Amino acid sequence: MTILHLAQEMKQKIDDKSLRQKDLEYKSLITLFYENSTRTKVSFNMAGLYQGMDVTDLGVATSSVQKGESLVDTAITLDKMGIDCMVIRHENSGAPGLIAKNVKASVINAGDGINEHPTQALLDFMTIYEKKGSFKGLNVTIVGDINHSRVARSNAFGLKKLGANVTFAGAGTLLSRSMEVTGAKVMYNVADAVRGADVVMGLRIQMERQNGGTFPSLREYSQIYGIDTDVFALADSEAILMHPAPVNRGVELSPELIDSSVSVIDEQVTNGVAVRMAILSLLMKK
Ligand code: CP
Repeated sequence: MTILHLAQEMKQKIDDKSLRQKDLEYKSLITLFYENSTRTKVSFNMAGLYQGMDVTDLGVATSSVQKGESLVDTAITLDKMGIDCMVIRHENSGAPGLIAKNVKASVINAGDGINEHPTQALLDFMTIYEKKGSFKGLNVTIVGDINHSRVARSNAFGLKKLGANVTFAGAGTLLSRSMEVTGAKVMYNVADAVRGADVVMGLRIQMERQNGGTFPSLREYSQIYGIDTDVFALADSEAILMHPAPVNRGVELSPELIDSSVSVIDEQVTNGVAVRMAILSLLMKK
């Protein structure tokens, strides 16, 4: 909640440049993205720049990583240059934790394998908090490729802690009963899971993390597990539609629903900058 409240203050600085202060001047931030990203990488860049940080990107594809340098050696090299904060996304679960044990710099997890994506969850919480005012007793249904989703895991852990009820829904090949260890309820009928929900969150099929064969075709998947206006109509009349994006239009969500007034996907993007501003501020001033 400390992060969410500070993020609400930070959000004003995105629109109103006169409110910006160079609070973090002379602090340096580097992004190390071993996986593709648009939202997370750019929003961390902007969050640093808006507060006066010196921001740089490793550019993994053109770095000495391509010559075989290890993850830890790369991080130690950057640490010795005096970097204050490293933001890392990696295909292996636990990579940011490993780096954190080996460097002096603050390390932020920007998504590690199928493990967690904590700053995404925090921006999701900020968006829910703005729209609903509290978390206690809220019914949040998350639909899609749950097994491979770090967003689903981070959302479940945080939302349960904040007092919300979380339901995971999707195809049996993409949602194991074992996901109940997160505290979420597991359901295999999407319509039943969406019925009465206050928040409906769609998730992308993580093709990059699976070998395929989990469903016959995208067309069949969207017909059985996709959310369109008819399915969404089963949710609470004040329900909001969320998605961490990128969205595969017409697969997990229908284009009409994405572009409708129930969708808060664009607000999630803006809140991503605000939340990351708050996180950088708290970390750099600690
Ligand atoms: N939601 C999310 O993490 O998006 P990117 O992959 O574009 O960073």
